[in-house]
Amino acid sequence: MPPTATSAEIDRAARLLRTGRLVTFPTETVYGLGANALDAEAVARIFAVKGRPNTSPVIVHVASIEMAESLVAAWPKTADRLANKFWPGPLTLVLAKRPEIPDIVTAGLPTVGLRMPAHPVALALIRAAGVPLAAPSANRFTELSPTTAEHVRRSLGNDVDYLLDGGPCQVGIESTVLSLAEPQPVLFRPGGISRDKLELLVGPIAFAAAPAGGAHPAPGMHARHYSPRTRLLLVRDGELPSEGKGIYLKHTHSAVRVGVETIQMPTEASAYAAALYDALHRADEGNFDWIAVNTPPDGPEWEAVQDRLRRAATNQ
Ligand code: TXA
Ligand code: MG
Repeated sequence: MPPTATSAEIDRAARLLRTGRLVTFPTETVYGLGANALDAEAVARIFAVKGRPNTSPVIVHVASIEMAESLVAAWPKTADRLANKFWPGPLTLVLAKRPEIPDIVTAGLPTVGLRMPAHPVALALIRAAGVPLAAPSANRFTELSPTTAEHVRRSLGNDVDYLLDGGPCQVGIESTVLSLAEPQPVLFRPGGISRDKLELLVGPIAFAAAPAGGAHPAPGMHARHYSPRTRLLLVRDGELPSEGKGIYLKHTHSAVRVGVETIQMPTEASAYAAALYDALHRADEGNFDWIAVNTPPDGPEWEAVQDRLRRAATNQ
């Protein structure tokens, strides 16, 4: 059994959150770096610890639809339909916010991203704290997201007040961010729930335009994001660089040149997503000159994985 935080640990973390401290906690997508979302000073510490520019809004985590409704100016029918179907789960809904949410949480935007996470430790923590939790992924800005408590320890070390361990994240890739602030839903970030599943419920979804300065509606839009330190190349199967020492992440079962280390990835999209960040963390620790990743297939279920790999590969 993977380690899972006890209720005594969750209570202690909840007390810390209520007094303005920072707690890292597991969600089903990635680990979050959490603070009381209604406490502007506590949220400011999140930005300081991550080294994240204050133009990037932070997701607010809730434990119920009622808690979500209490934070927004209006709760449209589409939000209700999506939340009833996909919450708790890896879907963030962007809606017009109420003034109680400090500007620092939303980077000055009039909207807030809300999500009810499915991990039992996350839900228990929000309930015990009794407040919504602002939480970006628990890594330094532009680093790979953490999907185990060990990843969090290595990235943030002693800069957080408390760490709750909930084992490895089951979804393994960040939530889908969907804006409902305009008449037509807009996809800000592909993620744990694929676009085609959402479209069945709400009709056609538009793609977000790249931000033109000012607040980033989605920091995932920064070109270099979710990146390992090692040069990452997206390649066709077996087309590996001839120079240097490398590691190859592949989902096929083809033979690989002698001397190249490999990480065998799952062939199914959600299993691949669940394994991706841990594989990249491991590859990045190996002192390689390059990480080659066999480009995964196209198709709606691969959209989030393709997105993260394309961003990680921009440091070529
Ligand atoms: O799965 C996840 O979403 C994880 C876990 C911890 O819940 N969190 C996460 O947070 O990935 P972060 O801060 O790394 O990414 C937040 C995403 C960004 O794409 C951000 O721009 C978008 O949510 N977002 C948050 N508030 C927004 C808003 N008001 N308008 C538009 N996008 C928003
Ligand atoms: Mg992040």
